[in-house]
Amino acid sequence: MAHEAATRPLTLSEQADELEEQMMLELNEKIATKSVLFNMGDGKVEMESGPALMAKNPGKYFLMGADPRLPKMPDKPQLIDFFKHRFASMNHLLQSATHALKGGHSEKVVLACLLHDIGVASFIRCDHGYWGAQLIEPYVDEEVSWSIRVHQALRFFPDESVGYGYPDMYVKYFGADYRPEPYIVEEYKRARNHKHYMTARLICVNDIYSFDPNAKVNLDDFVDIIGRNFKQPKEGLGFDNTPSSHMWRTLMWPTRFL
Ligand SMILES: [Fe+2]
Ligand SMILES: [Fe+2]
Repeated sequence: MAHEAATRPLTLSEQADELEEQMMLELNEKIATKSVLFNMGDGKVEMESGPALMAKNPGKYFLMGADPRLPKMPDKPQLIDFFKHRFASMNHLLQSATHALKGGHSEKVVLACLLHDIGVASFIRCDHGYWGAQLIEPYVDEEVSWSIRVHQALRFFPDESVGYGYPDMYVKYFGADYRPEPYIVEEYKRARNHKHYMTARLICVNDIYSFDPNAKVNLDDFVDIIGRNFKQPKEGLGFDNTPSSHMWRTLMWPTRFL
């Protein structure tokens, strides 16, 4: 009943709808869309049809470019631009890379540490090692991308030779009974004898959250290492026609209709 709806407090989903409408309005003339994955988190495996969205937003077209709610990206974006404008939790990456740098490791190890969790920081947590590796594969030495791919598995397995134990944090996060999925166990077994095993292992050793909170970390410290070890395309990431260009474009324009 309309009267009842006007007087009772809004339910959570009504509040969400209202917020969504407000956000749509802020876009003003374009309709931004949400992915199925986005809605799934709210228990809805569905997507609103084009006609339904159009009917809700009379006189508007769908967004087919940059989302004005997001930080502006340059026309030819480089890795640093994604760090600054798209990656969340840059601190963990900088801390890990700084730790590796101070440990005197090679530039490839430092770069691997700097990029190891960009899957989480940009896309999605699930299988972050694989997403992260795929993003950077065309631009780095195979040692770097391979190590990022398998660090996800190696994190679950101790290696006493470098003083790496099963993370206490994982016991806290996943429970003492948690056992990695079989595909992770298989990945670990394959990685164990790989020529770049130690680079991936060093990601785990430097993968820390308990870094001195007063230590200063700065992306500027890594600009030269990125310059020497990450082939930045002159067209900009996303416009260089590699197997991962589309992934960079999605990071740039996540709410494009198509
Ligand atoms: Fe990770
Ligand atoms: Fe990490």
